[in-house]
Amino acid sequence: MDKFVINGGNKLKGKIEVRGAKNAALKIFAASVLTSGTVRIKNVPEVEDIVRISELLKNLGVEVLHPKHGEYRITAAKIKTSAINPKIAKKLRASIVLTASLLARAGNVKFPHPGGCVIGERPIDIFLDGYKTLGAKINYRNGLYEIKGKLIGAKFTFNNVSVTGTEAMIMAASLAKGKTILKNCACEPEIESLANFLNSCGAKIQGAGTPFIAIEGVKSLIGGEYQTIPDRIEAGTFAILAAATKSNILIKNCEPEHLDSLWNVLRKAGVRLNIGKNQVEVIPSGLKTVNVKTHEYPGFPTDLQSPVCVLLTQAEGQGLVHETIYEGRLLWTEELKRMGANVLMHDPHRISIQGPTKLRSRNIESPDLRAGMAYLIAVLCAKGKSVINNVYQIDRGYEKIEERLRKIGADIKRI
Ligand code: EPU
Repeated sequence: MDKFVINGGNKLKGKIEVRGAKNAALKIFAASVLTSGTVRIKNVPEVEDIVRISELLKNLGVEVLHPKHGEYRITAAKIKTSAINPKIAKKLRASIVLTASLLARAGNVKFPHPGGCVIGERPIDIFLDGYKTLGAKINYRNGLYEIKGKLIGAKFTFNNVSVTGTEAMIMAASLAKGKTILKNCACEPEIESLANFLNSCGAKIQGAGTPFIAIEGVKSLIGGEYQTIPDRIEAGTFAILAAATKSNILIKNCEPEHLDSLWNVLRKAGVRLNIGKNQVEVIPSGLKTVNVKTHEYPGFPTDLQSPVCVLLTQAEGQGLVHETIYEGRLLWTEELKRMGANVLMHDPHRISIQGPTKLRSRNIESPDLRAGMAYLIAVLCAKGKSVINNVYQIDRGYEKIEERLRKIGADIKRI
């Protein structure tokens, strides 16, 4: 397993470019199974999760070509099996979305409970309820779900707002017979972008990006082309990194409109921002604390909760962080405490952070993708040599992060 060795405490400076959104590209890879035509995907981040979903697709007999950096061509002309490889699926939460496209295209799918980050219970009841509502039959045997049936459009209300749940139902309903109405849908930009892509392939989806989505099923979809939207979580992470290390960083190739809730929080914390059309400049400033509550889009993203906690360790005063989406996603702050942060846990969903504190360098394990990235920000704030182990977790979602951070002055190497 690779490690990062970091000498923290430097101010950073310069430009950093945002890659395509992992959580958008993964869903297009899954959606490519809905058509026998070729899907060309551009601006794909070269991250481990993309390698995993490519392996899953190849296992199904799908052709996955990678002609150049950031570009993939996927053709699911024939599907050899609709059993998803359990070993790979256990590493990747996004594999659950593939169950929808396989079920819709092949009429059946077999899969294990999916894996992903260890951030709390990650149930799949919404998917099972959704598929049942569309007429599928579900069996659970020897650790595998087996779902079968010809899908028929129906009305479905999500009892919990779910990003992948919404995406899965959009995919399944696109090839179902008749009309599907979805209510209480997630509104993330990745969902709107998925629907736009599917519509360009012949689907009839209306309302994506709002809580109400209507889908008129079609008989088949054609191939198409997709330009992956910029990764809002990566852009937000870089902005928080700049603010926490009091650095002047220009974040390029991003979509600032996708991060309004973050800009509000940062401005309240005293951070000065120059927001342009596709870029944001963070200007070093004094920091005061803020309260942050995670929420579905357009609220403050749970994926930015861990970086913002590090920011609060550097800000004056006591701030409350309320994680409303996942019950296990604040546990990583135990290690932040060992670095010197003054964190008080009220319950699994709420912590207070008293700042500012000097963080101490440390040898740490990256527990999951976003917490791993938060540790990286923390050790860049801390003077001295730190080591982050298990950087596979960071590589899952951030392309060659050490090379890109080195270009803006970070002292970091991979060993
Ligand atoms: N939930 C259920 N039942 C379900 C599905 C979800 O109760 O069947 C609950 C979850 O336990 C959670 C809430 O619904 O409390 C919301 O979870 P959601 O389904 O929206 O999360 P997800 O779709 O599994 C995606 C991203 C996550 C991101 C969340 C929230 C992908 C592959 N993953 O997960 O990204 O944190 O939405 O925005 O798109 C990451 O990239 O590091 C990451 C974890």
